[in-house]
Amino acid sequence: MTNPFIDFQAQIEAVKQRHTAGEISQNERDNLIRRMKLKDDAWGDVWMLSPTGEWFRQAKGSKGWVRDYPLDLVELPDMPIDALDIHQVAKTIHHCTRCPLHETRTRAVPGEGPVEADLMLIGEGPGYHEDKQARPFVGNAGQFLEELLDSIGYKRRDVFITNVVKCRPPNNRDPQAEELAACSDYLTRQIELINPKVIVTLGRYSMYRFFPGESISKIHGQPQRVGDRLVVPMFHPAAALHQPRFRPLITEDFLKLPQFIAEAASMAEEPVDPVDPADAEQLSLF
Ligand code: URA
Repeated sequence: MTNPFIDFQAQIEAVKQRHTAGEISQNERDNLIRRMKLKDDAWGDVWMLSPTGEWFRQAKGSKGWVRDYPLDLVELPDMPIDALDIHQVAKTIHHCTRCPLHETRTRAVPGEGPVEADLMLIGEGPGYHEDKQARPFVGNAGQFLEELLDSIGYKRRDVFITNVVKCRPPNNRDPQAEELAACSDYLTRQIELINPKVIVTLGRYSMYRFFPGESISKIHGQPQRVGDRLVVPMFHPAAALHQPRFRPLITEDFLKLPQFIAEAASMAEEPVDPVDPADAEQLSLF
C-alpha cells in the first residue's frame, strides 16, 4: 500500500533538489514548500512539512496549525510502553482498546507539545471538540488556558499538554477508576520522555495522580517536590468558566509559575549529596 506521507516527503525533496541544482532561489524553494499541503483522507486533517523539516497539522474544523507528527510514518515495534518514543506512545494511544472509552471516542487525544518542554500541563480528559480534533484543550477551557499561559509569557506551543485519560468520557462525565488505570502508563511514559521541570495538574483527577486523597481547595498553587521536579496542583480552567470565584484563584496560581520553573531548574542542578566518608567506608565492607 502506498503511503501518502512518504510521497509527499518525496515531492518536497524534489523541490529542495531544484534549489540545490540552482534552478530556484531559497526564497522560492521555501515559498513552494510552504504552499504544499497534504489532505489526510482518514480524518480530513491537512498536513504540511516546513522547509526545516517539521510537520504541522491543521485539524479538520480548526484554523490553527500545530506541530504534530504523522503517525503513518511511525513504526510500532512490539515493545513495552516504557521503551517507546513520544510518537510511538501517541500511535499506541490512537490504537488503544484497553478500556471501554475506545468504543465511544471519535479520536484519541494523546497530547501535544515539544518533547523538550519544561512545563507540562495535565488535564482530566478530552471533551467534545478535543474528541473531534484529536487535540487537548481546544474548546472554551483551552482558550482560557491560552490566556493564562499568555499571562506568564508562554504560548501553548511552548508547553506539553495532555490529560489523565486520553479518550473522551461520554457526556464529559468524570473518568472512572478503571479508565484512569488503563491510561496510567501512557502518562508515566510521557512524563519520563518530556522530563518537565514543572508539572501543573488541572483539576482533581490529575491532582489525585500525584496526591491521592488531597483537597484541591487546600493545596492549589502550592508546589510539591516530586523527585527532581515540582508538581503544582491547580483548579481546572473549566471550573473558572462555570464559577467565576475560581478565576482569580487560578489566575494568581498561574502567575507564580515562572518562579517555580526557575526554582525547579536550580533544584535539578543541585549536586548530589557527597558521600560521607564514614558511609563510604561502611559500604565498602559489604
Ligand atoms: N478539559 C480537559 O481536562 N482536557 C481537555 O483536553 C479539554 C478539556
